[in-house]
Amino acid sequence: MGRCPICQAWNSLEEKAESKAALPPLHPYTLSQLTEDDEDRKPVGVAEFDRVMGGGLVSGSLVLLGGEPGVGKSTLLLQVADAYAKIWGEALYVSAEESARQLRLRASRLGISSARLSVLNETKLDRIISCVEALRPGLVVIDSIQAISTDDIDSVPGSVTQTRACTYALMQLAKSHAVTIVLVGHVNKQGALAGPKVLEHAVDVVLSFEGERHTAYRLLRAAKNRYGSTNELGVFHMAESGLEEVTNPSALFLSERPEGAAGSVVVACMEGSRPLLVEIQALVSPAPYGGTPRRQTSGVDRNRAAIILAVLEKRAGMQLQSHDVYISVVGGLAVDEPAADLGIALAVASSFKGRHVEPRTVVFGEIGLVGELRQVRHTDKRLTEARKLGFQRCILPGSLSVKRSDMIDLVPVNRLTEALQAGLS
Ligand code: TYD
Ligand code: MG
Repeated sequence: MGRCPICQAWNSLEEKAESKAALPPLHPYTLSQLTEDDEDRKPVGVAEFDRVMGGGLVSGSLVLLGGEPGVGKSTLLLQVADAYAKIWGEALYVSAEESARQLRLRASRLGISSARLSVLNETKLDRIISCVEALRPGLVVIDSIQAISTDDIDSVPGSVTQTRACTYALMQLAKSHAVTIVLVGHVNKQGALAGPKVLEHAVDVVLSFEGERHTAYRLLRAAKNRYGSTNELGVFHMAESGLEEVTNPSALFLSERPEGAAGSVVVACMEGSRPLLVEIQALVSPAPYGGTPRRQTSGVDRNRAAIILAVLEKRAGMQLQSHDVYISVVGGLAVDEPAADLGIALAVASSFKGRHVEPRTVVFGEIGLVGELRQVRHTDKRLTEARKLGFQRCILPGSLSVKRSDMIDLVPVNRLTEALQAGLS
């Protein structure tokens, strides 16, 4: 303004920056002043979900759930919101993609009944925020972050700038109202969360929901978790009436195992704090003359497999150079534990020699480059799980400290060659 609107003087207005001194001084805490139970965790009672979350939903946190279209994200979160509402109070499910009718159909299919679960059909961020401020729910689900937009930003919903702006606004809302907000995010074909990577930095927890379209089970993992471990795995089964928890995944993953077939081995792995028995299969067949032999893996790291094949060639004298080798973990699972080494080696050897591993035998152990077997952690948990599923014999690394067990025969071995002998005899 050139002229003061009060005294009418010209050029009398001066620009002044707000004084920084007006801000109150900061008071950092010492670590001992912070109590451990500062986080307010609310288990929703869906154990497979709670465990992956690190014990339950934390107030004031922002969670991102990614997954391919049709995997069951909306189903999972509607069930979680219902379970939350039954225990803890108001929950709000914002559906920005589906109509109220579609939501109602799903809800009735899932048998969802909580009176404290509200749904809202809205895509405008500002209206969603005012609704949250009025209703004060403890949990808000936004399905999906790519479908909502704010008028403050002049670009289409789902664009990088829109998604980022909405995520930051929702983070503010989560912190200021101590509400847990779960965002649904679509992933693209490569499995990356569509939209900006910045989303993953901004949120407290990144979950991914995976599963093959043609199989009924679904895996929930945490790719990032500020409140817990990222090693936990949640297993669900998609049924007619929604997702059911799979409390004994080992049994599920082994249910279709071809007993007595060469190339199939059961390994006792750990997924986070939980033991998981998985079947590893290998197919070894002569490579076409003159071609480079193929090495294909699924669920097993290619480089790790290459090392194990090299050890089998060098230390166990197996001529794999002229053979194609395919290795896969059954059920779309991935194992990245060294303990699976012995299972991979035994599966390959079994297929190569055309001799099956006795079906009640389970194995685990890390393989070293000179063909030695190395101890792995959680021996007891692995054995307990194997025993629970009716396995009678376990081949494991054993130089020291292996406790005798009366329920399962332990076959401790020090070298890969001994393990192959024990496994294929
Ligand atoms: P949905 O939760 O809509 O997936 P997303 O939100 O990840 O896109 O679930 C999609 C699939 O799940 C759909 O193909 C149908 C199936 N489904 C069931 O098999 N049982 C059920 O009870 C429900 C609700 C869905
Ligand atoms: Mg959906």
